[in-house]
Amino acid sequence: MSGEGKKVIFSGVQPSGKMTLGNYLGALKSWTELQHDFDCYFSMVNMHAITVPQDPEVLRRQTIELLAQFIACGIDPDLNTIFIQSHVPQHAELNWVLSTMTYMGELSRMTQYKDKSKKSEANLNAGLFTYPVLMASDILLYKADVVPVGDDQKQHMELARDLAERFNNRFSDTFVVPEGYYPKGTSRVMSLQEPLKKMSKSDSNENGYILLAESADSTAKKIKKAVTDSVGVVNYSDEQPGLRNLINIYSALTDQTVEQIVDMYEGKGYGAFKKEMAEAVVESLRPMREQYNYLLDNRDYLESIYVKGAQKAEKRAKETLDAVYDKIGFVKRNY
Ligand code: TYM
Repeated sequence: MSGEGKKVIFSGVQPSGKMTLGNYLGALKSWTELQHDFDCYFSMVNMHAITVPQDPEVLRRQTIELLAQFIACGIDPDLNTIFIQSHVPQHAELNWVLSTMTYMGELSRMTQYKDKSKKSEANLNAGLFTYPVLMASDILLYKADVVPVGDDQKQHMELARDLAERFNNRFSDTFVVPEGYYPKGTSRVMSLQEPLKKMSKSDSNENGYILLAESADSTAKKIKKAVTDSVGVVNYSDEQPGLRNLINIYSALTDQTVEQIVDMYEGKGYGAFKKEMAEAVVESLRPMREQYNYLLDNRDYLESIYVKGAQKAEKRAKETLDAVYDKIGFVKRNY
């Protein structure tokens, strides 16, 4: 049970690049909506990021920038526990315990591993393979009830649930079995260039994604260049995946329903739709971009947030890890 008796949320983002509109609409927007009703732990998961090679200075910088982006998106640092994953050593420790209870077969079925390993055959490290165990450890350490994520994390969530149940059955009730929380319409924001592929910051085609920190001009241009189809009518259908993706984004950012948007563009072409959509996207991202730039100039403030966050996170993580070590038969450290 958390300090305030609220249910607990854990979620994280890798500091492996700047946040995209996909990260925001798939995860961060849910965080802002849930933060008042849950005791939330949000992490910049730098230990996950090093499963692919990172430049040390860039990783350090991007971790702080990610924190600034969390706050700029509306995550209130006074309400939530925001921390850097590597500051709480219990993540790595629980990861070890849970890895002894995870089957090789389970991990080799993970589609993200299969995709990523294809891209980095020359550097196929064990961390990439065991990544989902670390993710399960993140969640289970805080006894999170709910995990707001995009739907690319569904398989990883299943593993976290299975490991919680496996541990509880083998020893005794210890972990909470967490539920994934996926936003309607935007749990998988697609690439603007290849609408059957997920929008991703690692896309080699920059026109496929929009970054939250991107200029108004560039955002509008990317929307205008977005791939649609030759139907020429603003419909929400599986046959028009490019348009469906744009409508989902438009709807999520303006709080208008899909039906309202389709009605608004009855009898109008894609040109009018894209122009007005671009304006709406730019306007809704503008305050985030401005706040982000302001925060980057306030390093001491950012540092105070992650220091306070790690202290609070470690307290809860330690309680869980102590219980785990006790149950599995590790001798208690009495010093
Ligand atoms: P990451 O860093 O790739 O992405 C962060 C969050 O953004 C969501 N997301 C998307 N949602 C919708 N459409 C998209 N195109 C899109 N792209 C990304 C992701 O689903 C995620 O919620 N493994 C995680 C990080 C992690 C984590 C955790 C998450 C580590 N430990 C514990 C939750 C709980 C990841 O790689 O996210």
